[in-house]
Amino acid sequence: MNHSVFDALTLPNGTVLPNRLTKAAMEENMAITGHLPGERIFQLYKTWAKGGTGLLITGNVMVDHRAMTGPGGIVLEANTPLEPFKKWSEAGQENGAKIWMQINHPGRQVYAAMGGQVLSPSDIALDMGKHSNLFSKPTPMSENDISELIQRFASTASQAVKAGFNGVQIHAAHGYLLSQFLSPLTNRRTDQWGGSLGNRARLLYDIVKAVQKVVPKETAVSVKLNSADFQRGGFDAGDALKVVEELGKLDVDLVEVSGGNYESPAMQGNNADDRTLAREAYFLPFAKDIAKQASMPVMTTGGITRLKVAQEVLDQGVDMVGLGRALAFNPSLPNTWRTSPENLVDLPAIKWKDKTMSALAMMAITKRQLRRMGQGKRPKISSSPFFSLIADQMRLKKLTKVYRNQYHQAE
Ligand SMILES: Cc1cc2nc3c(=O)[nH]c(=O)nc-3n(C[C@H](O)[C@H](O)[C@H](O)COP(=O)(O)O)c2cc1C
Repeated sequence: MNHSVFDALTLPNGTVLPNRLTKAAMEENMAITGHLPGERIFQLYKTWAKGGTGLLITGNVMVDHRAMTGPGGIVLEANTPLEPFKKWSEAGQENGAKIWMQINHPGRQVYAAMGGQVLSPSDIALDMGKHSNLFSKPTPMSENDISELIQRFASTASQAVKAGFNGVQIHAAHGYLLSQFLSPLTNRRTDQWGGSLGNRARLLYDIVKAVQKVVPKETAVSVKLNSADFQRGGFDAGDALKVVEELGKLDVDLVEVSGGNYESPAMQGNNADDRTLAREAYFLPFAKDIAKQASMPVMTTGGITRLKVAQEVLDQGVDMVGLGRALAFNPSLPNTWRTSPENLVDLPAIKWKDKTMSALAMMAITKRQLRRMGQGKRPKISSSPFFSLIADQMRLKKLTKVYRNQYHQAE
């Protein structure tokens, strides 16, 4: 039987998601002092929860303050005060929605301007063409670094549960550290963490197991995985199928299928492999194949803005629909769809020649809407990508300086 996007979904751990629409992770860069969530984050998540989305996945929360995807990021470590995180989880559960925390380590995808620790399986720097100097060469991780990392993921997950989050999502996509381990292009190790797919995925499996050990059964444990890196020689669709099969054996509750990384931003519909992605629901062909074989529910995210397309995702056998930008421009889209099924979000099209700049502008214009909602304002669909990018770069520069000062004081 085909499901409607408004039908509930029972996860393998027995807990129930109120519907099949999910707010995908979008990094907010809105932390207050101490890398903590504050009033604006609470306001933003209340807005989303009230808008009818069944599951809210937070923007990525860092497991280590020394390695950040960007300034203004949120960090949850063993000694972080939990009160602000409790308020965050409460805000996200208004209206019966569930909230999961996405947890992440950026690995080599740390802007050089940020400083801090740049770790990766091997010492391969990002190749961003003329923008490569935005990033520095990473240091290959030692056995100790790897054990510490596993501990950190488990500790962040355990803290999230104490703060009232209903689940965690381990970020193993988009070229961040776990995705670097999975890809043969960035993982050239010859020890037990590199080489065969089993070895490259070992760190992900060990983290899943370590997290499951410290969280109760009713806490959902999910993984965001690339369907492919969309780079020749990278992690591919066959690899993804095998990894999902293993994650099934580990009783993972949901796999979100995405794709790409900073070098090949397929998650935004662009890639370096000349492979054509659909204009809407880009990863559906991959997610559909994965869902056929997966033992857990599968979600796909990327390019979905219309109810008809969301329904098509379910009709093709995928269980959940992830929405990112659509919910940044209309946080009440699920409620809107209940009464106006034809309503859609017309995402800004940014087609500049410089793909890196286009990707940054897309992020900037989207984050601007998150900040507006955090201030109790409505999103503004007519925002200019160019001015949003300039304003964002200036804001990030300031926040980067604050982070560097804090970082160097703390070390
Ligand atoms: C501003 C912004 C921030 C994002 N931050 C994250 C993140 O923290 N973690 C993550 O897994 N994906 C992140 N993404 C990717 C989205 O989750 C999603 O995969 C992508 O935007 C494609 O979905 P969409 O077309 O529905 O936006 C981000 C995307 C945007 C636009």
